Amino acid sequence: MKLAVIEGDGIGREVIPAAVEVLDAFELELEKVPLELGYARWERTGTAMSEEDLEIIKECDAVLFGAVTTVPDPNYKSVLLTIRKELDLYANVRPVKPLPGIMGVTGRNDFDFIIVRENTEGLYSGIEEIGHDLSWTKRVITRKGSERIAEYACKLSKERSNKLTIVHKSNVLKSDKLFLDVCRQTASAYGVEYGDVLVDSMAYSLMMHPEKYDIVVTTNLFGDILSDMCAALVGSLGLVPSANIGKKYAFFEPVHGSAPDIAGRGISNPLAAILCVKMFLEWMSKPEALLIDDAIADILQKKTITPDLGGRASTAEVGHAVAKYIIQNL
Ligand code: IPM
Ligand code: MG
Repeated sequence: MKLAVIEGDGIGREVIPAAVEVLDAFELELEKVPLELGYARWERTGTAMSEEDLEIIKECDAVLFGAVTTVPDPNYKSVLLTIRKELDLYANVRPVKPLPGIMGVTGRNDFDFIIVRENTEGLYSGIEEIGHDLSWTKRVITRKGSERIAEYACKLSKERSNKLTIVHKSNVLKSDKLFLDVCRQTASAYGVEYGDVLVDSMAYSLMMHPEKYDIVVTTNLFGDILSDMCAALVGSLGLVPSANIGKKYAFFEPVHGSAPDIAGRGISNPLAAILCVKMFLEWMSKPEALLIDDAIADILQKKTITPDLGGRASTAEVGHAVAKYIIQNL
């Protein structure tokens, strides 16, 4: 197993080393391949990511990724979107689950659901024209793209409560009728109980009744927006991990960005990145992944937490504490 490790920029350079320390605690047979990509790389060399980098990534099985700062060049192609496309990482999986004792904005912690976001098409098609008086982006929904994400979501539903919520906006966007129909047909074929909700109504419902949901499947942009919103349910963007899964590769990244405003001070919260390690271990079918939940519960209880959660620990101290717990309990 080969894992590309991309810290990227800003707090990516703090949270990924902490996550790697946690990963190392498991003593897996794993070759780590460090790669420098992103803004700092672009400043130094003029490219944020080269063809050779992509080839190196493709020789790995999986990627652990921090965050990259957008490069201020009108021709810049997002490193993240390019990798998702090149590795055909069609399922963006974002678990929304409270951590013990941490309340999000709604003050409740009785929910546990997963956003399954289509990750390769929709409004992220990259087919667009930018003009002075008219700009447009083509929203692409295909049967194949909808089928594979619907299947992914249905399989996940089968492992959990067998309930699926399809989120769309087909009352206005006719392209979403295809997505909705395919999701309904797939859910029927899998014997999964399903319902559908319009995305605007879903945003409200997720804030009011997050406990009603289990697997939520939606198109690319809606999933992007809802997943940041749902981070507020959990308490902070610093607490939610994500996995981008394809047939061959998997790519793990915290939902947060590079946060240049707090970077370099060692105060960023590494828990989202550490939970990415958990998702990576689960992807490898390693049952010891669950130790990460225990370790996090332990450090939360002992208040070894970063300032955003009201603690005084540094990013690295949180990483050490989680890794230490794992070494002691493995
Ligand atoms: C995310 C991010 C990305 C996205 C950006 C950085 C391209 O917001 O992973 O949610 O929109 O998918
Ligand atoms: Mg986002």
